[in-house]
Amino acid sequence: MAKSKLTFICQACGAVYTRWQGKCDACGEWNTIVEENASGGIGGGPQRGARRKGRPSALLPLSGEIEEAPRIVSGIGELDRATGGGIVRGSAILIGGDPGIGKSTLLMQAAAALSRRKSSVVYVSGEEAVAQVRLRAQRLNAADTDVQLMAETNVEDILATLAEGRRPDLLIIDSIQTLWSDLAESAPGTVTQVRAGVQALVKYAKSSGAAVILVGHVTKDGQIAGPRVVEHMVDAVLYFEGEGGHHFRILRTVKNRFGPTDEIGVFEMGGEGLREVGNPSELFLGERNAKSPGAAVFAGMEGTRPVLVEIQALVAPSALGTPRRAVVGWDQPRLAMVLAVLDAHCGVRLGQHDVYLNVAGGFRISEPAADLAVAAALVSSLSGAPLPADGVYFGEVSLSGAVRPVAHAAQRLKEAEKLGFSRAVLPAASSDLPKSHGMRVEDVEALPDLVAKVAGGAIPRSGDET
Ligand code: TYD
Ligand code: MG
Repeated sequence: MAKSKLTFICQACGAVYTRWQGKCDACGEWNTIVEENASGGIGGGPQRGARRKGRPSALLPLSGEIEEAPRIVSGIGELDRATGGGIVRGSAILIGGDPGIGKSTLLMQAAAALSRRKSSVVYVSGEEAVAQVRLRAQRLNAADTDVQLMAETNVEDILATLAEGRRPDLLIIDSIQTLWSDLAESAPGTVTQVRAGVQALVKYAKSSGAAVILVGHVTKDGQIAGPRVVEHMVDAVLYFEGEGGHHFRILRTVKNRFGPTDEIGVFEMGGEGLREVGNPSELFLGERNAKSPGAAVFAGMEGTRPVLVEIQALVAPSALGTPRRAVVGWDQPRLAMVLAVLDAHCGVRLGQHDVYLNVAGGFRISEPAADLAVAAALVSSLSGAPLPADGVYFGEVSLSGAVRPVAHAAQRLKEAEKLGFSRAVLPAASSDLPKSHGMRVEDVEALPDLVAKVAGGAIPRSGDET
């Protein structure tokens, strides 16, 4: 019999070591390396099982019949949008999110909706007792559906229970951090256990044709706790995000083998669970105070959907040697770049100012198209001149100070017009503008044009100072 072998595995990234060490060389985290027994079983690596002779597999041409992936549609529009038109049968989906963000709530609602559409759903809860799950189901008006409940954490037991009855259309596992398998010898919650459990369930999904949704908690730095490896094993990875103090939640697709990855679904958390938000712009612009300086409305795109959000900037003289730069909802390096371009090409000097930037409503923007709106908000705050309340901004700023066109200009304009905006400041070279629309378009070629437009003569050009 092979001697069981101890290995040391980083709980953050899954890197394997033969000796313990304080810092993981792979991901740079401290104190994440834990001793695990990796001998045999799932997750034990190759060559650990009995040697067997290989079996020839069929070689196939690239051309041939293609089957459209069959999907189960929940009827919850925002969820179906984020999954790319419904959950694909036989696929494994990982949903990550902070504790308490509403993952269990979302999945209970999805389970109930699917069950009402005559799909069979099994909900496995490893974190909460049956009574707790029932209580939530009652609160969500899901108690009268045929969703089957199981409070179990052992993978072999879960699979054995499923083998007894009819194969469900959807299996929900809440959560992977509670899973453990007899085949792995490490403690529950370790990378080896999570990986072994997920591997067995992904295999079950592929072989049985049932879709599997796995819930994973997120660590403080935003990764799915424990192994990144789990993200590689599943077909789709969705993140459920939200800001504390705000009621809305965003389901964001970061990986999808069966659909686009830039889609989002927007929900609002209320007393009776999550409500779909069909028009997110209205929600994000809801608390707007258009008269104060430093606020610019950005016409953004999230996947195929235009989303309007307010970008708020506050620029104030700094009492510190190194002025503060604080950003919520946008990229810190990107802000540094816009500040540098304002300084170098427009004479807008913010080196002695604290700069705070906030995307209203707790939304997160990842598009460079927000550059122009950020610059407008910054200049407006510095000069004390409010931006026109009926205007939207979009465009990418390059290091040379030029304002570059961005994709989907027509859709951005259409959404802005729909929401009552009447003018748009956008890159001069935007090409796909519609012929007829009710917006007044003001195009800018370079950032100094924007500064002049926003501040007028309120900010001295660098040359004027001497
Ligand atoms: P939950 O789904 O348990 O979060 P997760 O599974 O991601 O840890 O949701 C927890 C929070 O949601 C909790 O703070 C209460 C709130 N909530 C509501 O506001 N309304 C509701 O109808 C439900 C069920 C929960
Ligand atoms: Mg939960």
